[in-house]
Amino acid sequence: MSALKRVVLVTGCTGMAGTRVLEQMVALTLASRRAGRPLPFTLRAAVRDPSSAIFPDGMKGVESKRLGMLDSATYGEALEQVERVFVLFHPMFSKAIPGFLDACREARVRHVVMMTVMHADSMTALPHHTAEKQLIAACAGDSGAIQEVMPVAHTDTPSATLALWEGEDLSIHHAAVTTLSDEDRAAPAAAAPTGEAAPRSYAAAAAAAAPAESHKPGEADASAEASAPASDPGMTYTAVRPAWFMENLTRPGIHLPDIREHSQLYMPAGDGRVHLVHGSDVGEVIARLCLNNPEGPRPLPDHLGKAYALTGTQLLTFSEIAERMTAVVGRPITYVKAWAIPFMWHMMRTRGHSFFFATLMAVEYSYLISGGRSTTMSPAVRNLTGGRDPRTIEMFLDENKAAFAPLPVR
Ligand SMILES: NC(=O)c1ccc[n+]([C@@H]2O[C@H](COP(=O)([O-])OP(=O)(O)OC[C@H]3O[C@@H](n4cnc5c(N)ncnc54)[C@H](OP(=O)(O)O)[C@@H]3O)[C@@H](O)[C@H]2O)c1
Repeated sequence: MSALKRVVLVTGCTGMAGTRVLEQMVALTLASRRAGRPLPFTLRAAVRDPSSAIFPDGMKGVESKRLGMLDSATYGEALEQVERVFVLFHPMFSKAIPGFLDACREARVRHVVMMTVMHADSMTALPHHTAEKQLIAACAGDSGAIQEVMPVAHTDTPSATLALWEGEDLSIHHAAVTTLSDEDRAAPAAAAPTGEAAPRSYAAAAAAAAPAESHKPGEADASAEASAPASDPGMTYTAVRPAWFMENLTRPGIHLPDIREHSQLYMPAGDGRVHLVHGSDVGEVIARLCLNNPEGPRPLPDHLGKAYALTGTQLLTFSEIAERMTAVVGRPITYVKAWAIPFMWHMMRTRGHSFFFATLMAVEYSYLISGGRSTTMSPAVRNLTGGRDPRTIEMFLDENKAAFAPLPVR
């Protein structure tokens, strides 16, 4: 008989955001082990092709399973023994999301953390808005009590800090995958706990949540349903809505070619200010949400049915970003204010993006940013990581200096 596992499934983990989520989960897992409080989870990367998924060395120990979001035949195996899921929402998954969430419920997943985007609540035309509603609906199937609440925009409650367990020193977030020792890498995964008493923090706070449960593939449904306490909220959710990722500057095929070929930032953002957030901060918050309260089946009640907007503490114009880039990369980088239509044309013709993607970007720059509609700072990164300041654009540029090296103009 195979050993019971408590699996945390990470989708989108070969992409920009998902990579950072998985990195931070691995770092937290290994740092926890070093701190003598090993986490009981097995990390599982959901990938379209496990044979070609290459993870950095520090990610040894992460198992891979095939999952095609548009191929429901792959859901069952990928969701075996999964307790918690990180769902990267991407507009190309729009049609598949309800079916995937249903499959999660059927597999008795206890908690879903979904990444959407800033303003997913108010911009109803965004597919991310619809996805959040589908998430709420999928979770409301078991009990309406928590899910009736529409997500809030951000947290101003430091008490919601995402310590993994009571008394955890949040400084373990400094653990970086790249600095792990060989010993760490070789260490086996933590064993699943057996029959532990409910933890103090969880038991005290969780009137609405169930005590720790485990489930086995196949036989889980009937027996677990029968033994589930009346207060079991079933599948619960947290939504995470990041602002503009600093990593947009280093993504191939978007702004990076303009920076390298022409030393320009070219976008229709006028003199508007943009929220900046570092991908590793987003990754850490999501990783902490997914791994929070390891003694229970889901994160602490503070985080259930919530949406966290994630920004850094800098609100900059693109001229100011170009100035900072100039200082770091050692050559003048200029911000060129584009008009929306030529920008879309540039994205489609020169960079090969779809009309849909070009429109999404143009709307973000010209409506939200240039129009000054996106200026509210969120304290969520700081509060959820125990008061740590979010990473800055200066840190990001310094880490990625080499990526901006000039290319000869053709
Ligand atoms: N950029 C920003 O500033 C920003 C800010 C907030 C929110 N967002 C949101 O973030 C999302 C995009 O995230 P991202 O930039 O991390 O995306 P990304 O880098 O394009 O990565 C997409 C991921 O999805 C996987 N994938 C693609 N098709 C799949 C399929 N059919 N089945 C399963 N997996 C599939 C990819 O795997 P493969 O390796 O197999 O292709 C990859 O791991 C969008 O919803 C966007 O609106 C972006």
